[in-house]
Amino acid sequence: MQLQIELEILRASAVASIEQASDLKLLEELRVQFLGRKGQVTEILRGLTQLPAEERPSVGQTANVVKTAIAEALELRKATLEAAVDHAQAEREQVDLSLPGRRRRKGHMHVISQVTEEVLQIMFELGFQIATGPDIETEYYNFDSLNTPADHPARDSHDTFFVKPGVVLRTHTSPVQMRVMERAKPPVAIVAPGRVYRVDLDASHSPMFNQIEGLLVDEGVSFADLKGTIMLFVHRFFSKETQIRFRPHFFPFTEPSAEVDISCTICKGQGCRVCKGSGWSELLGCGMVHPEVFRYAGYDYEKYTGFAFGFGIDRIAMQRHAISSISYLFENDLRFLEQF
Ligand code: DAH
Repeated sequence: MQLQIELEILRASAVASIEQASDLKLLEELRVQFLGRKGQVTEILRGLTQLPAEERPSVGQTANVVKTAIAEALELRKATLEAAVDHAQAEREQVDLSLPGRRRRKGHMHVISQVTEEVLQIMFELGFQIATGPDIETEYYNFDSLNTPADHPARDSHDTFFVKPGVVLRTHTSPVQMRVMERAKPPVAIVAPGRVYRVDLDASHSPMFNQIEGLLVDEGVSFADLKGTIMLFVHRFFSKETQIRFRPHFFPFTEPSAEVDISCTICKGQGCRVCKGSGWSELLGCGMVHPEVFRYAGYDYEKYTGFAFGFGIDRIAMQRHAISSISYLFENDLRFLEQF
Protein backbone atom coordinates (compact mmCIF):
# COMPACT_ATOMS: atom_id res chain seq x y z
CA MET A 1 0.00 0.00 0.00
CA GLN A 2 2.75 2.31 1.00
CA LEU A 3 4.46 1.97 -2.42
CA GLN A 4 1.25 2.51 -4.28
CA ILE A 5 0.69 5.81 -2.49
CA GLU A 6 4.25 6.86 -3.21
CA LEU A 7 3.70 6.08 -6.87
CA GLU A 8 0.53 8.13 -7.02
CA ILE A 9 2.24 11.08 -5.36
CA LEU A 10 5.16 10.74 -7.74
CA ARG A 11 2.84 10.72 -10.71
CA ALA A 12 1.07 13.87 -9.56
CA SER A 13 4.25 15.82 -8.93
CA ALA A 14 5.98 14.53 -12.10
CA VAL A 15 3.06 15.46 -14.36
CA ALA A 16 2.80 18.87 -12.68
CA SER A 17 6.46 19.71 -13.23
CA ILE A 18 6.40 18.34 -16.79
CA GLU A 19 3.44 20.52 -17.66
CA GLN A 20 5.33 23.54 -16.39
CA ALA A 21 8.65 22.78 -18.08
CA SER A 22 9.52 25.92 -20.03
CA ASP A 23 11.89 24.46 -22.60
CA LEU A 24 13.03 21.21 -24.22
CA LYS A 25 16.25 21.03 -22.26
CA LEU A 26 14.42 21.18 -18.95
CA LEU A 27 11.98 18.59 -20.19
CA GLU A 28 14.81 16.21 -21.00
CA GLU A 29 16.17 16.66 -17.49
CA LEU A 30 12.76 15.74 -16.09
CA ARG A 31 12.60 12.65 -18.25
CA VAL A 32 15.92 11.48 -16.85
CA GLN A 33 14.84 12.39 -13.34
CA PHE A 34 11.66 10.27 -13.50
CA LEU A 35 12.10 7.60 -16.12
CA GLY A 36 15.85 7.31 -16.52
CA ARG A 37 17.80 4.25 -15.45
CA LYS A 38 18.41 5.84 -12.07
CA GLY A 39 15.12 7.72 -12.13
CA GLN A 40 12.56 7.84 -9.36
CA VAL A 41 10.06 5.41 -10.94
CA THR A 42 12.80 2.88 -11.54
CA GLU A 43 13.93 3.24 -7.96
CA ILE A 44 10.45 2.47 -6.68
CA LEU A 45 10.11 -0.52 -8.99
CA ARG A 46 13.31 -1.88 -7.57
CA GLY A 47 11.63 -1.93 -4.17
CA LEU A 48 9.06 -4.44 -5.58
CA THR A 49 11.29 -7.38 -4.68
CA GLN A 50 10.91 -6.63 -1.00
CA LEU A 51 7.13 -6.87 -1.18
CA PRO A 52 5.12 -9.90 -0.25
CA ALA A 53 4.43 -11.90 -3.41
CA GLU A 54 0.65 -11.23 -3.41
CA GLU A 55 1.10 -7.46 -3.43
CA ARG A 56 3.57 -7.37 -6.27
CA PRO A 57 1.15 -7.71 -9.25
CA SER A 58 -1.07 -4.81 -8.25
CA VAL A 59 1.85 -2.53 -7.30
CA GLY A 60 3.62 -3.52 -10.50
CA GLN A 61 0.54 -2.63 -12.46
CA THR A 62 0.23 0.76 -10.78
CA ALA A 63 3.92 1.39 -11.46
CA ASN A 64 3.40 0.71 -15.15
CA VAL A 65 0.37 2.95 -15.28
CA VAL A 66 2.36 5.74 -13.58
CA LYS A 67 5.26 5.21 -15.95
CA THR A 68 2.98 5.43 -18.98
CA ALA A 69 1.25 8.51 -17.60
CA ILE A 70 4.58 10.26 -17.09
CA ALA A 71 5.78 9.20 -20.54
CA GLU A 72 2.59 10.56 -22.10
CA ALA A 73 2.90 13.82 -20.21
CA LEU A 74 6.47 14.12 -21.50
CA GLU A 75 5.36 13.47 -25.10
CA LEU A 76 2.58 15.97 -24.90
CA ARG A 77 4.76 18.67 -23.40
CA LYS A 78 7.49 17.96 -25.92
CA ALA A 79 5.08 18.39 -28.83
CA THR A 80 3.81 21.67 -27.37
CA LEU A 81 7.31 23.05 -26.81
CA GLU A 82 8.48 22.03 -30.30
CA ALA A 83 5.51 23.71 -31.89
CA ALA A 84 6.34 26.87 -29.97
CA VAL A 85 9.93 26.78 -31.24
CA ASP A 86 8.72 26.35 -34.83
CA HIS A 87 6.30 29.18 -34.43
CA ALA A 88 8.95 31.52 -33.05
CA GLN A 89 11.23 30.69 -35.94
CA ALA A 90 8.47 31.32 -38.45
CA GLU A 91 7.81 34.66 -36.78
CA ARG A 92 11.46 35.57 -37.07
CA GLU A 93 11.70 34.56 -40.70
CA GLN A 94 8.45 36.05 -41.80
CA VAL A 95 8.50 37.80 -45.18
CA ASP A 96 6.70 41.10 -45.25
CA LEU A 97 5.13 41.11 -48.69
CA SER A 98 4.00 44.69 -48.29
CA LEU A 99 7.59 46.05 -48.20
CA PRO A 100 8.75 47.72 -51.42
CA GLY A 101 11.16 45.61 -53.49
CA ARG A 102 14.83 46.46 -53.90
CA ARG A 103 15.19 48.30 -57.17
CA ARG A 104 18.03 47.41 -59.49
CA ARG A 105 20.00 50.53 -60.33
CA LYS A 106 19.57 51.29 -63.99
CA GLY A 107 22.57 52.75 -65.76
CA HIS A 108 22.55 55.00 -68.78
CA MET A 109 24.94 56.36 -71.36
CA HIS A 110 27.65 58.70 -70.13
CA VAL A 111 27.04 62.32 -71.08
CA ILE A 112 30.06 62.17 -73.42
CA SER A 113 28.63 59.13 -75.19
CA GLN A 114 25.24 60.84 -75.45
CA VAL A 115 26.74 63.95 -77.03
CA THR A 116 28.97 61.88 -79.34
CA GLU A 117 25.97 59.89 -80.59
CA GLU A 118 24.02 63.06 -81.17
CA VAL A 119 26.83 64.67 -83.19
CA LEU A 120 27.40 61.50 -85.22
CA GLN A 121 23.69 61.23 -85.93
CA ILE A 122 23.57 64.77 -87.35
CA MET A 123 26.70 64.18 -89.47
CA PHE A 124 25.38 60.80 -90.59
CA GLU A 125 22.23 62.48 -91.88
CA LEU A 126 24.46 64.89 -93.84
CA GLY A 127 26.06 61.91 -95.55
CA PHE A 128 29.21 61.44 -93.48
CA GLN A 129 30.31 57.92 -92.60
CA ILE A 130 31.87 56.93 -89.29
CA ALA A 131 35.56 56.00 -89.19
CA THR A 132 37.93 55.11 -86.37
CA GLY A 133 41.66 54.76 -85.78
CA PRO A 134 43.96 53.55 -83.00
CA ASP A 135 44.68 55.50 -79.78
CA ILE A 136 48.31 54.42 -79.94
CA GLU A 137 49.54 55.99 -83.13
CA THR A 138 52.79 56.38 -85.01
CA GLU A 139 54.45 59.76 -85.28
CA TYR A 140 54.01 59.35 -89.01
CA TYR A 141 50.19 59.37 -88.86
CA ASN A 142 49.91 61.73 -85.92
CA PHE A 143 52.40 64.31 -87.26
CA ASP A 144 54.51 63.76 -90.41
CA SER A 145 51.77 62.83 -92.83
CA LEU A 146 49.74 65.77 -91.53
CA ASN A 147 52.45 68.15 -92.63
CA THR A 148 53.67 68.60 -89.07
CA PRO A 149 57.46 68.35 -89.37
CA ALA A 150 59.79 67.08 -86.67
CA ASP A 151 60.66 70.60 -85.46
CA HIS A 152 57.02 71.69 -85.09
CA PRO A 153 56.19 72.86 -81.54
CA ALA A 154 53.15 70.54 -81.43
CA ARG A 155 55.56 67.60 -81.28
CA ASP A 156 57.18 68.91 -78.14
CA SER A 157 57.42 66.26 -75.45
CA HIS A 158 55.64 68.75 -73.17
CA ASP A 159 52.45 68.16 -75.15
CA THR A 160 52.82 64.61 -76.40
CA PHE A 161 52.85 61.33 -74.51
CA PHE A 162 55.51 59.15 -76.11
CA VAL A 163 55.02 55.40 -75.89
CA LYS A 164 58.41 54.72 -77.44
CA PRO A 165 60.44 56.42 -80.15
CA GLY A 166 58.20 56.95 -83.15
CA VAL A 167 55.04 55.92 -81.27
CA VAL A 168 52.73 58.28 -79.39
CA LEU A 169 49.31 58.45 -77.80
CA ARG A 170 47.51 60.34 -80.54
CA THR A 171 47.25 64.03 -79.69
CA HIS A 172 44.24 64.50 -81.97
CA THR A 173 41.87 62.50 -84.18
CA SER A 174 43.35 64.00 -87.37
CA PRO A 175 45.50 60.90 -88.10
CA VAL A 176 42.25 59.07 -88.90
CA GLN A 177 42.00 61.36 -91.95
CA MET A 178 45.20 59.90 -93.35
CA ARG A 179 44.27 56.31 -92.50
CA VAL A 180 40.96 56.75 -94.34
CA MET A 181 42.49 58.45 -97.40
CA GLU A 182 45.10 55.72 -97.72
CA ARG A 183 42.34 53.15 -98.07
CA ALA A 184 39.65 55.01 -100.01
CA LYS A 185 39.53 57.08 -103.17
CA PRO A 186 37.53 60.33 -103.31
CA PRO A 187 34.81 61.21 -102.74
CA VAL A 188 35.19 60.62 -99.00
CA ALA A 189 33.08 62.09 -96.23
CA ILE A 190 33.85 60.78 -92.76
CA VAL A 191 33.55 61.69 -89.11
CA ALA A 192 35.89 60.03 -86.62
CA PRO A 193 35.16 60.09 -82.88
CA GLY A 194 37.78 59.05 -80.35
CA ARG A 195 39.94 59.66 -77.32
CA VAL A 196 43.02 61.84 -77.61
CA TYR A 197 45.84 62.53 -75.16
CA ARG A 198 47.94 65.51 -74.21
CA VAL A 199 50.21 66.39 -71.31
CA ASP A 200 47.86 68.97 -69.87
CA LEU A 201 45.78 69.35 -66.72
CA ASP A 202 43.62 72.17 -65.31
CA ALA A 203 39.94 73.12 -65.01
CA SER A 204 39.46 73.09 -68.78
CA HIS A 205 42.13 70.54 -69.78
CA SER A 206 42.36 66.84 -69.09
CA PRO A 207 45.25 64.56 -70.16
CA MET A 208 42.66 62.44 -71.97
CA PHE A 209 39.74 63.99 -73.78
CA ASN A 210 37.44 63.31 -76.72
CA GLN A 211 37.37 64.69 -80.21
CA ILE A 212 35.42 64.29 -83.40
CA GLU A 213 37.24 64.71 -86.69
CA GLY A 214 35.56 65.50 -89.96
CA LEU A 215 36.88 65.18 -93.51
CA LEU A 216 35.24 65.71 -96.87
CA VAL A 217 37.15 65.38 -100.14
CA ASP A 218 35.78 65.62 -103.65
CA GLU A 219 36.15 67.64 -106.80
CA GLY A 220 35.24 71.30 -106.38
CA VAL A 221 34.87 71.39 -102.60
CA SER A 222 35.17 74.98 -101.35
CA PHE A 223 35.42 76.91 -98.12
CA ALA A 224 31.74 77.73 -98.58
CA ASP A 225 30.95 74.02 -98.25
CA LEU A 226 32.93 73.96 -95.01
CA LYS A 227 31.09 76.98 -93.69
CA GLY A 228 27.70 75.64 -94.73
CA THR A 229 28.35 72.28 -93.12
CA ILE A 230 29.47 73.81 -89.84
CA MET A 231 26.56 76.22 -89.77
CA LEU A 232 24.10 73.43 -90.39
CA PHE A 233 25.65 71.35 -87.65
CA VAL A 234 25.64 74.20 -85.13
CA HIS A 235 22.02 75.04 -85.87
CA ARG A 236 20.98 71.42 -85.45
CA PHE A 237 23.06 70.64 -82.40
CA PHE A 238 22.65 73.90 -80.48
CA SER A 239 19.89 76.08 -81.94
CA LYS A 240 18.97 78.16 -84.97
CA GLU A 241 19.69 81.29 -82.95
CA THR A 242 23.31 80.30 -82.30
CA GLN A 243 25.76 82.65 -84.09
CA ILE A 244 29.02 81.43 -85.55
CA ARG A 245 32.19 83.33 -86.41
CA PHE A 246 35.31 82.25 -88.25
CA ARG A 247 38.69 83.52 -87.03
CA PRO A 248 41.78 83.06 -89.19
CA HIS A 249 44.11 80.53 -87.60
CA PHE A 250 46.99 78.23 -88.40
CA PHE A 251 47.05 74.46 -88.60
CA PRO A 252 49.83 72.63 -90.45
CA PHE A 253 47.39 70.31 -92.19
CA THR A 254 44.97 72.93 -93.55
CA GLU A 255 45.36 76.05 -95.65
CA PRO A 256 43.61 78.35 -95.16
CA SER A 257 42.72 77.47 -91.57
CA ALA A 258 40.20 78.90 -89.17
CA GLU A 259 38.87 78.55 -85.70
CA VAL A 260 35.13 78.71 -85.26
CA ASP A 261 33.44 80.26 -82.26
CA ILE A 262 29.77 80.05 -81.37
CA SER A 263 27.81 82.59 -79.40
CA CYS A 264 27.64 81.25 -75.85
CA THR A 265 24.55 79.08 -75.61
CA ILE A 266 24.25 79.63 -71.87
CA CYS A 267 24.09 83.44 -71.78
CA LYS A 268 23.17 83.96 -75.48
CA GLY A 269 26.28 86.08 -75.94
CA GLN A 270 25.77 88.29 -72.89
CA GLY A 271 28.86 87.00 -71.11
CA CYS A 272 28.83 84.43 -68.29
CA ARG A 273 30.89 82.03 -66.22
CA VAL A 274 30.95 79.36 -68.92
CA CYS A 275 32.21 81.66 -71.73
CA LYS A 276 34.39 83.56 -69.25
CA GLY A 277 32.49 86.76 -69.94
CA SER A 278 33.31 86.95 -73.66
CA GLY A 279 29.91 85.92 -75.02
CA TRP A 280 31.70 83.50 -77.38
CA SER A 281 32.86 79.95 -76.98
CA GLU A 282 35.53 78.29 -79.10
CA LEU A 283 34.02 75.36 -80.96
CA LEU A 284 36.49 73.86 -83.42
CA GLY A 285 39.46 74.12 -85.72
CA CYS A 286 39.03 73.67 -89.44
CA GLY A 287 40.29 74.52 -92.88
CA MET A 288 40.89 73.38 -96.44
CA VAL A 289 43.03 70.24 -96.59
CA HIS A 290 46.66 71.18 -97.30
CA PRO A 291 47.97 69.91 -100.69
CA GLU A 292 50.93 68.39 -98.85
CA VAL A 293 48.50 66.19 -96.89
CA PHE A 294 46.90 65.04 -100.15
CA ARG A 295 50.38 64.25 -101.46
CA TYR A 296 51.01 61.98 -98.43
CA ALA A 297 47.62 60.35 -99.04
CA GLY A 298 48.38 59.74 -102.70
CA TYR A 299 45.51 61.98 -103.83
CA ASP A 300 45.79 64.19 -106.91
CA TYR A 301 45.84 67.64 -105.30
CA GLU A 302 45.28 69.31 -108.69
CA LYS A 303 41.99 67.48 -109.04
CA TYR A 304 40.61 67.27 -105.52
CA THR A 305 39.96 69.72 -102.73
CA GLY A 306 38.54 69.08 -99.33
CA PHE A 307 37.80 70.47 -95.92
CA ALA A 308 38.52 69.11 -92.49
CA PHE A 309 37.53 70.03 -88.98
CA GLY A 310 38.11 68.79 -85.47
CA PHE A 311 36.46 69.60 -82.20
CA GLY A 312 36.43 68.61 -78.57
CA ILE A 313 33.33 66.66 -77.57
CA ASP A 314 33.95 67.44 -73.92
CA ARG A 315 33.89 71.13 -74.68
CA ILE A 316 30.57 71.05 -76.51
CA ALA A 317 29.10 68.82 -73.79
CA MET A 318 30.22 71.42 -71.24
CA GLN A 319 28.75 74.20 -73.36
CA ARG A 320 25.50 72.31 -73.80
CA HIS A 321 25.06 71.50 -70.11
CA ALA A 322 26.84 74.51 -68.52
CA ILE A 323 29.47 72.31 -66.88
CA SER A 324 32.23 74.43 -65.38
CA SER A 325 35.08 71.93 -65.08
CA ILE A 326 36.12 69.18 -67.50
CA SER A 327 37.18 66.98 -64.60
CA TYR A 328 33.52 66.32 -63.73
CA LEU A 329 33.30 64.38 -66.98
CA PHE A 330 35.96 61.88 -65.93
CA GLU A 331 35.53 61.54 -62.17
CA ASN A 332 32.59 59.15 -62.56
CA ASP A 333 30.76 60.60 -59.60
CA LEU A 334 27.22 59.23 -59.96
CA ARG A 335 25.75 62.34 -58.34
CA PHE A 336 27.05 64.23 -61.37
CA LEU A 337 26.42 61.62 -64.06
CA GLU A 338 22.84 60.87 -62.99
CA GLN A 339 21.83 64.39 -64.02
CA PHE A 340 22.08 63.56 -67.72
N1 DAH B 1 43.59 68.51 -84.84
C1 DAH B 1 43.33 69.86 -84.36
C2 DAH B 1 43.51 69.88 -82.85
O1 DAH B 1 43.46 68.88 -82.25
C3 DAH B 1 41.95 70.26 -84.70
C4 DAH B 1 41.78 70.42 -86.16
C5 DAH B 1 42.01 71.62 -86.75
C6 DAH B 1 41.37 69.37 -86.93
C7 DAH B 1 41.88 71.83 -88.10
C8 DAH B 1 41.22 69.53 -88.30
C9 DAH B 1 41.46 70.77 -88.86
O2 DAH B 1 40.82 68.55 -89.09
O3 DAH B 1 41.30 70.94 -90.18
O4 DAH B 1 43.68 70.95 -82.32
